[in-house]
Amino acid sequence: PIAERVELLLKEMTLEEKVGQMNQLNGFWDVTGPAPKEGTAELKYRQLERGLVGSMLTVRGVEQVRAVQKIAVEKTRLKIPLIIGFDVIHGYKTISPIPLAEAASWDLQAIKNSARVAALEASAAGINWTFAPNVDVTREPRWGRIMEGAGEDPYLNSKVAVARVQGFQGESSEDLKSPHTIAATLKHFAAYGFAEAGKEYNLVEISNATLHNIVLPPFKAAVEAGARSVMNSFNVINGIPATASTYLQRDLLKEEWGFKGMVVSDYASIRELIAHGYAKDEQDAALKAVEAGSDMDMESYLYVEHLADLVREGKVQESLVDDAVRRILTLKFELGLMDNPYLYLDEEREKKITGSKENREAVLDVAKKSIVLLKNEKGILPLKKKGQKIALIGSLAADKNSPLGSWRIASDDNTAVSVLEGMQAYKGNSLVYSKGADVSVGAVSFTTEVKINTTDRSGFDEAINAAKESDVVVMVLGEHGFQSGEGRSRTDLGLPGLQQELLEKVFAVNPNVVLVLNNGRPLTIPWAAEHVPAIVEAWHLGTESGNAIAQVLYGDYNPSGKLPVSFPRNVGQVPIYYNELSTGRYTNTDGLVFWSHYIDSEKTPQYVFGHGLSYTSFSYSNLWTEKSLYGMGEKITVRVEVANTGERKGVETVQLYIHDKHASIVRPLKELKGFKQVALAPGESKVVEFVLSEKELGFYNNNGDYIVEPGAFTIMVGGSSNHSLEKLITLEK
Ligand code: IFM
Repeated sequence: PIAERVELLLKEMTLEEKVGQMNQLNGFWDVTGPAPKEGTAELKYRQLERGLVGSMLTVRGVEQVRAVQKIAVEKTRLKIPLIIGFDVIHGYKTISPIPLAEAASWDLQAIKNSARVAALEASAAGINWTFAPNVDVTREPRWGRIMEGAGEDPYLNSKVAVARVQGFQGESSEDLKSPHTIAATLKHFAAYGFAEAGKEYNLVEISNATLHNIVLPPFKAAVEAGARSVMNSFNVINGIPATASTYLQRDLLKEEWGFKGMVVSDYASIRELIAHGYAKDEQDAALKAVEAGSDMDMESYLYVEHLADLVREGKVQESLVDDAVRRILTLKFELGLMDNPYLYLDEEREKKITGSKENREAVLDVAKKSIVLLKNEKGILPLKKKGQKIALIGSLAADKNSPLGSWRIASDDNTAVSVLEGMQAYKGNSLVYSKGADVSVGAVSFTTEVKINTTDRSGFDEAINAAKESDVVVMVLGEHGFQSGEGRSRTDLGLPGLQQELLEKVFAVNPNVVLVLNNGRPLTIPWAAEHVPAIVEAWHLGTESGNAIAQVLYGDYNPSGKLPVSFPRNVGQVPIYYNELSTGRYTNTDGLVFWSHYIDSEKTPQYVFGHGLSYTSFSYSNLWTEKSLYGMGEKITVRVEVANTGERKGVETVQLYIHDKHASIVRPLKELKGFKQVALAPGESKVVEFVLSEKELGFYNNNGDYIVEPGAFTIMVGGSSNHSLEKLITLEK
């Protein structure tokens, strides 16, 4: 058994060797070349040779991984292999939609398949462990990393988290030792998505109830589903840096939840304890992080430099080091690395699997399902397949890089199918492309700021003329793929640069506009929402982006996505989210100003959580529960009839919400507690069933205890968080 083998190995290890396992290095030098002779690269190389490195990140590809693994296995005393980590966030070479987009599919099987493709390609490139999924619930569209998670809702985030963990790791713990799976990491523990004002790396102030009911559920669900690692977080949470939070990492995660996997720090987050003013120096930072339960130090070099001394000086108990190393070694055994360090390394497999037809099909499938039809008037969509003159406008329409989105460091640039290419595959119409205006100026990259074009209107006239001469105008506007992601907070959520101006000018000559949005976060588009007849939310959809969009525009795929996040009307409304608490003055009862609202804006979002149209229509009827009075602990079966009342077959995501009407702490007006997808032919109807139990009806109180209280609950069902039907039930003591 693994546990025994770990103990035997642990007994053989020196203190330095143990601490070495807790050291993770970024491999930025050419690991296949000669040994580096100077600088940080040389230091890192020496540590590797001396068995003082447990893991590396960023090294990728069979050749590179073999090179570093050989050093670990052949040059060190105990020959313990490295575990190779990498940010496989939404695909490795074949890129899936950004995770926020995938969440909009609400299709857990498609999401799982997409993570499986990522695992297949990454494992074939020698990677054992991904730093995904990001399960940061967030209410902050200003925050660039909103693109990496599943949006604002804890229930949807939990389901998506589990699907992605299973896609990466397989469904049983045995699957992990297959060379086709990789270990998952839940990140960022915790509350990174609540950075104040959406400003990257900012502090988090959060109540216990919000932490437990909103932020932690996806972590807990995915830990229960067997996720093997957790990454802590850059942010300070209620005064304590998450990396040094004993409460989060030891008391909650490891003790209360019984997590047996390992906690990796975020990049240099242990060293950042000093910048936070929480640790006085390097030793103090190492001490505080290890005591708090951070098992592996990503790129701070503080464990490897100070931990052994801290133990020898009696300042850190060796048992803490043993606990961390046990967790790290266990994962190496589980992945099969201890039996065969080269298990994942097969050049032939790497060639065969990377970018395969099957992988592209899987990401196309999830890309289509991720698209959300926000608005469709005048029957403008789907486009007719013949006899139309179409103008395609916007630099993003021809862009093959931007649709890959942020956080896709292994993929090759310019490898996405553009919208232009996708639409060119439909030959029955005449298609004229005109750029209009560039979104960005100069080179774009993952690590540098995107410069926005605010002056060059030289392409405007051509675009306006093309619009004048066409029947329909498709405008692809929004954010460049690198405008969201880490370090990309925005204060203005409108269409960047000159795009709003271009949109209005084009619309003035031809109002038959279909606006296709590309973005990594909710945008504020009040003008478009009012004037433009059709709006298609197409996010950053990855390698197959253009094909997915064209298939939706032409109706070969009937859109089925639903928003995983509210779209505000303006930045002043942020944070705006559907599961808000009631105020004492939520509605206007007397026509006076003294109620919770704005005087210069509606208080509702532009598009609500769960919203998404189809080319057909659905109706809801016969919301049913067996009775209205239930005993505590009794299961509540809810049924509803959903009919396709339009003329095309389509898929509807039926959403169930509850409202706990009176409780010992104020409960949200609505909480998503179930969803199911149903495919319906025109005229067809089906009964959809949900079962509610204590798991759905309870909540965490201010002490972090889960409780279910008797009383009245409203059950609401519909095709968005603006539900259609509701029913009252009561739980009796
Ligand atoms: O995994 C990431 C994390 O999300 C942000 N900081 C760097 C890590 C490793 O690249």
